Amino acid sequence: MTDQTALKKAAAAKALEYVTDGMKLGLGSGSTAETFVEMLAPRVKGGLKLTCVPTSEKTAALARRLGITLAPLDDLAPLDLTVDGADEADRGLNLIKGGGGMLLREKIVAAASRRMVVIADESKLVPRLGKYPLPVEVVAFGHKSTAQRLATALDGLGYSRAPIILRLRGGEVFKTDSGNVIYDCALGSIANAPKLAAAISAVPGVVEHGLFIGIATTLVIAGPGEVEVIDRQTTEPA
Ligand code: A5P
Repeated sequence: MTDQTALKKAAAAKALEYVTDGMKLGLGSGSTAETFVEMLAPRVKGGLKLTCVPTSEKTAALARRLGITLAPLDDLAPLDLTVDGADEADRGLNLIKGGGGMLLREKIVAAASRRMVVIADESKLVPRLGKYPLPVEVVAFGHKSTAQRLATALDGLGYSRAPIILRLRGGEVFKTDSGNVIYDCALGSIANAPKLAAAISAVPGVVEHGLFIGIATTLVIAGPGEVEVIDRQTTEPA
């Protein structure tokens, strides 16, 4: 087992502590979230009752194969908890997601959940988001025009040299579970994530972006010999 695989397992094991009997649970996507699903399965076989909503067709197939009960989001929402991975996270619990191309359903499911626990190995924790290219999901119709307007919007925020790359897989244009395409925006360093999120969302043709701001409630970061848990700071009224 590589060190990184062991760290993903350690983070996933910690997230299991948040799961209780009878929960309505969102299942994330990506290798760390899949590790969590694999660790959940023996608990379910052992009698833990859960009804789960997958955030991708891939996670759905894995969960079905492992005997985990699935249901449509609209039959269950609001969910008690979603457990998912991230491509980058900062200590303010802001995230970049979508490296696997599932950001749209991941965000819909997380937003419909009372809590979101994010699990990651320590390589994902950054002082400031942006080194990881930000995925932006765009409707396939006219996507090149949309990408030009996206570039203009990014220029306006000072990201003038940010490469915006149409995602390919196996030489073909990558299509999401919802039939959209993805542009990966290499921004370098994001100074004001809420402002950037608003500017990207305002471009017609953009479906969703991979910035998750104010959604995660807990971040579980696994490093060698230590699993750190960071909870969202809530400001109590004076
Ligand atoms: C999937 O679209 C992503 O948001 C994943 O959550 C993210 O890419 C993390 O994946 P890994 O756990 O495989 O690094």
